[in-house]
Amino acid sequence: LLVFAGCAKQADAPAADGQTSDVLIGISMPTHSDESWLRHCEFTKDFLRELGYTKFDEQWAEDVPATQVNQIENMITKGAKVLVVASVDGGALTEVLAKAAKQGVKVIAYDRLLMNTPDVDCYVTFDNTKVGEAEAKYIIEKLGLDTGAEGPFNLEIFCGSPDDNNSYYFYDGAIALLQPYIDEGKIVVKSGQFGIEQCGIQNWDGAVAQTRMDNLITAYYSDGSTLDAVLVPYDGLSIGVISSLKNAGYGTADRPLPIVTGQDAEVASVKSIIAGEQAQTVWKDFRKPAEICAQMVDALVKGTEIPVNDTTTYDNGVKVVPAYLCEVDNIDASNYMKLFESGFYDKADDTWAGIVE
Ligand code: GAL
Repeated sequence: LLVFAGCAKQADAPAADGQTSDVLIGISMPTHSDESWLRHCEFTKDFLRELGYTKFDEQWAEDVPATQVNQIENMITKGAKVLVVASVDGGALTEVLAKAAKQGVKVIAYDRLLMNTPDVDCYVTFDNTKVGEAEAKYIIEKLGLDTGAEGPFNLEIFCGSPDDNNSYYFYDGAIALLQPYIDEGKIVVKSGQFGIEQCGIQNWDGAVAQTRMDNLITAYYSDGSTLDAVLVPYDGLSIGVISSLKNAGYGTADRPLPIVTGQDAEVASVKSIIAGEQAQTVWKDFRKPAEICAQMVDALVKGTEIPVNDTTTYDNGVKVVPAYLCEVDNIDASNYMKLFESGFYDKADDTWAGIVE
């Protein structure tokens, strides 16, 4: 019934045969500086094209919230019917989204939740709690804590950008599993720094993470004590952390690198894993949310049922936003070939020459 209602509405649309091809979709992306977003955006457009959408207004805010506000405003002016928004600052768009709602424009939060607004229709992301859990589980397992190792092991913590709601889910998922070992004294955080406020890296900036790691080493590890693990929630930060550790003399037979985690399976991190430096990354197959996002767009355009699988978790401060959570996977040196076998990466690409056979 809903489908027919949707079709009936579309009878007024300008192109009788391909209603979808005339609909303008706004795609608002946070930054080119994290490789992941390029792939998210390309996959999303691919799936939209498969459903017949051809008109996109694609804009990149380059990590400046005010730029994103302007870009979204322009999308509304240009007549976009649906906005796909991966936010820079999830809480900075309330006003512009109210304008969108006034014009009847539908809004999908992509990967990062849009906060403090009633004007978001749905959300597609990964199970962000499980991302943090996967990183913590990996550390616990590799330190042998789950099989009786007593430690104490030294660990430091990095968090994501404080303006990204995901950062809190990643941290909460991880710390819930690490805390019992910290309480027992089997894991020691020598800096005493916990939580987003102390460990957050604004804009997920790898250079800032590198500097923070430098400072932690100088302040807490120059007494000869060794760092055994670093909880890091994103590959772009992991690479910065590893550079810092190597500059400080880690990465030799006598002084191996600590276990460093990550997320996104970015090219540099997959190479680092293959080279035996970064230990782990959480692989999020971006094709999945892209596909769901395209289905959400289509449902919002046609007035049909929106695909969701979680209606309780993602409270944005005003309402619980109906969400579709995609599954995550764990990648390390033992199973990185999955990335190639699944077609997520193509080993024939020049970037993998001499690295992946
Ligand atoms: C998060 C996202 C991560 C990572 C990070 C830095 O919002 O969920 O996968 O990409 O941003 O860009």
